[in-house]
Amino acid sequence: MKRTTGPRALALIISAILLLAGCGREQAADESEDPKLLLGFSQLGSESSFRIGNTRDIEEKAEEYGISLMLENANQKQENQIAAIRSFIAYRVDVIAFSPIVEDGWDNVLREAKDAGIPVVLVDRTIRTEDDSLYESLIGADFYEEGVMAAEYLLRKADDLGKDRLNIVEITGTEDSTPMKQRHEGFFDTIGGDSRMNLLESVNGDFLRSRGAECMEYLLETYGDDIDVIYSHNDEMTMGALPKIENAGYRPGEDMVIISIDGGQEAIDILKEGKINCIVECTPMLGSILMETAMKLKAGEAVEKVTHPVERTFSDYDDIGNLEPRGY
Ligand code: AHR
Repeated sequence: MKRTTGPRALALIISAILLLAGCGREQAADESEDPKLLLGFSQLGSESSFRIGNTRDIEEKAEEYGISLMLENANQKQENQIAAIRSFIAYRVDVIAFSPIVEDGWDNVLREAKDAGIPVVLVDRTIRTEDDSLYESLIGADFYEEGVMAAEYLLRKADDLGKDRLNIVEITGTEDSTPMKQRHEGFFDTIGGDSRMNLLESVNGDFLRSRGAECMEYLLETYGDDIDVIYSHNDEMTMGALPKIENAGYRPGEDMVIISIDGGQEAIDILKEGKINCIVECTPMLGSILMETAMKLKAGEAVEKVTHPVERTFSDYDDIGNLEPRGY
């Protein structure tokens, strides 16, 4: 392996200054060697088992592919992600990847990456921009379709329950994030024409277990017995909500239909117990596609603009006794 050249060492010093200014590097490439490919990845946080699984998968796949990974965890703050992307530019990584916490506010920093000639890959979530040349590729779930799948389950369940009216409460993910917006739209577009469906209220749980518990407490106090269906945008919030439902004297999965998204092991085990009725999968295993895409970009090859992983639904209509361990 060759030693690093002077400019890269200089870039490292600049990067170190930027990091000291608040970016907090978790793991860096060995700056004494020129790696096959240097990938800077800004993860948005550690709010859920999905997120932790996604970070682990990217670390493992980078290792497998022999790619050097500079990983930054933004701890749920967009400004930390912007600072991390700037440090990757200063370091002159080969490819920048990041999972945008929200959709808006990225144009300036992505223009800096483009001006520096560094290709950008969006992982998991997308951004809102007029200029889609600011990123090369998006690798992540079709969140709209996840909302559709959740609604399709509910329509089937409604037929079986035979009720005239189903009152729904929705616990949404982070405001202005892609999964929050698209899971809401996909779900309500799909049930919209069905006169049995009635939304009582949507509340924001920020994808966090603690917020899921708080939201559920509020919803139970406000609507109590009227609640028939809980549509929660991720497993973490669902698992925060479940003890509140039980403490209030209801049987989740029987007195109330519980619909969740992600499909991590803990939630799947609860589904098997009957306390969750349906989980729409959102897979965090995006590492291999990311590594393949990064290598193509470094080689100057064309890449797919959008790649969605294939996902499925797990529900009380399925036999999931022999399901493989989920890995997150
Ligand atoms: O962007 C994907 C979502 O983010 C997952 O559903 C959720 O668990 C995570 O926080």
